[in-house]
Amino acid sequence: MTTKEDIDKNKIPTHIAVIMDGNGRWAKQKGKERVVGHQHGVKAVREVTEAAAEVGVKYLTLFAFSTENWQRPSDEVNALMSLLVSTLNSEIKTLMENNIVLKTIGNLDIMPAQVRKNLMKTVRETLHNKGMTLILALSYSARWEIAGAARELADDVKEGKVGLDEIDETLFSEYLQTRNIPDPDILIRTSGEYRVSNFLLWQIAYTELYFTKKLWPDIRKEDLYDAIIDYQSRERRFGLLSEQTKLDVDR
Ligand code: IPE
Ligand code: IPE
Ligand code: MG
Repeated sequence: MTTKEDIDKNKIPTHIAVIMDGNGRWAKQKGKERVVGHQHGVKAVREVTEAAAEVGVKYLTLFAFSTENWQRPSDEVNALMSLLVSTLNSEIKTLMENNIVLKTIGNLDIMPAQVRKNLMKTVRETLHNKGMTLILALSYSARWEIAGAARELADDVKEGKVGLDEIDETLFSEYLQTRNIPDPDILIRTSGEYRVSNFLLWQIAYTELYFTKKLWPDIRKEDLYDAIIDYQSRERRFGLLSEQTKLDVDR
């Protein structure tokens, strides 16, 4: 079994993003309702969050609910919203113990008021922590985010705050929900699906992708260690030649 000690402490990814998938199938395999899978997914969230904080990851982004997920049957949507509130209340202790700052990305305006209130309260309570930043993507989709950024930028151009010739990749990034957060180094998706489902499309331009067949509720600390170790074996070239990237490291 993989342990924390197998990880190269000098090559810890700064930002890990995760598409937590497979809760429904996990429940179905056990002959249970889908919501039972979501409930068991909470333990996996705790394990991965603690493991990431312990090994020194600076940012962990978890895709918890997509814009498209609103179209699921209302029973499931409601169950997910209540689970979010109860999890925030039960996990605040874990967040404080691990010195974690909670942030959110996504369209909180369309979240139920009670959920929004609880989220904002937890964000406030963890604001002064000094450890890892945990970013929950809620009611989030990348195309929604990019369209919103384009709208805000266009508005600033219209008002004369930004000149057309000033628009470049760096400026555009500042209009995204993830402003001030470095791009993910690795994106993990569970449940054996090989797609990105409208998650962080701009930010994952050069992210290493890691897929595991395990369903989200079965994920434990060792699975995060495995993903990090796999990441550490990759050569990130960013369009350059292998020799050039090696030179960069030696410099
Ligand atoms: C991921 O599990 C959690 C959310 C999308 C909210 P799913 O609910 O998508 O589970 P599967 O993919 O149907 O098994
Ligand atoms: C992606 O999972 C969204 C989250 C994990 C919150 P989905 O289960 O919604 O994605 P698809 O429908 O399989 O692409
Ligand atoms: Mg799914």
